[in-house]
Amino acid sequence: MTKSTTAQRPLGSGHDARSTADDVLRGVDLTGRTAVITGGYSGLGLEATRALARAGAHVIVPARRPRQAAAALSDTPGTEVVALDLADLDSVRAFADGVLASGRTVDVLITNAGIMACPETRVGPGWEAHFAVNHLGHFALVNRLVPALTPGRARVVPVASSGHFLSDIRWDDPHFRDSPYDPWLAYAQSKTANALFARHLDTVAGDRGPRAFAVHPGSILTPLQRHVPREEQIAQGWMDRDGRPADGFKSPAQGAATAVWAATSPLLEGHGGAYCQDCDIAGPATSDDMLIGGVKPWAVDPAAAARLWELSAELTGLDAFA
Ligand SMILES: NC(=O)c1ccc[n+]([C@@H]2O[C@H](COP(=O)([O-])OP(=O)(O)OC[C@H]3O[C@@H](n4cnc5c(N)ncnc54)[C@H](OP(=O)(O)O)[C@@H]3O)[C@@H](O)[C@H]2O)c1
Repeated sequence: MTKSTTAQRPLGSGHDARSTADDVLRGVDLTGRTAVITGGYSGLGLEATRALARAGAHVIVPARRPRQAAAALSDTPGTEVVALDLADLDSVRAFADGVLASGRTVDVLITNAGIMACPETRVGPGWEAHFAVNHLGHFALVNRLVPALTPGRARVVPVASSGHFLSDIRWDDPHFRDSPYDPWLAYAQSKTANALFARHLDTVAGDRGPRAFAVHPGSILTPLQRHVPREEQIAQGWMDRDGRPADGFKSPAQGAATAVWAATSPLLEGHGGAYCQDCDIAGPATSDDMLIGGVKPWAVDPAAAARLWELSAELTGLDAFA
């Protein structure tokens, strides 16, 4: 697969916001392929796991709560649960070492696990938890798994969000040490980081790959909103009083579609590093409406992507391409 510098311009994929993960995989045979999906036992990750497994892939599901993961996947053949806590870099290393020791190659790595709008939490050496779990843990995981990624074929798909609209990387204070903690800015920063990570990974990976694509899945009611009180969700217009999602929200199966499409679509060849939504490359954001989406300039800026890579390598002590 060749790579090129990517423009944020939709390709006309033939899919749209209503497409499900099964729709984008219709006719795709993944027999013999291995996928890893962090958080692949809840919300969008669970739907992506089920769809990839139905298409024939073997799916490894790293799980912070392996017992719950095994229960969620008990009816999905072709899946395997392995313990992993992204907040703990020793746990990330143990998971990656296990994959490497097995001699298996990984064709698809969807870095989907995430937390949103949590109360202030510190992990490891005092890192802010959204930045640590959503970004640094995945940065470490991908860098450790690089030797297992199938040369010339593997794809890495960080699940970002239009939540990135609210914040660039807080270069002077990524861990909220010098300014008051804000849970939405913390989430937003981590989602900008997911998008920038895809862009620079694709650049440094060169011809052997992997290719990387960031995705915004859409807006979907899942356990992700557990830290947002129900009244606030109603006031924000996300759901009605009966818990029904607002117009413009997707089902979990639709929310999983863009990640699965980015992981498999031949249309993306030559577009490495792109930020995608609704099963296509996203255009530039033309408003601040997160339901409409698109991508803000700071989330696809190559210089910022390189700077974030450097910062992340320094913090984790890892850089597979140095
Ligand atoms: N839902 C939306 O509207 C929406 C919109 C934009 C972007 N996204 C993104 O989509 C992704 C999936 O979200 P979702 O809606 O499917 O949420 P979800 O149902 O809450 O799933 C998130 C998964 O991440 C796992 N996770 C959290 N912390 C972890 C850690 N320290 N180590 C390992 N795994 C951890 C969770 O495990 P536990 O269950 O054990 O906690 C869970 O399996 C996230 O990255 C989110 O930012 C979602």
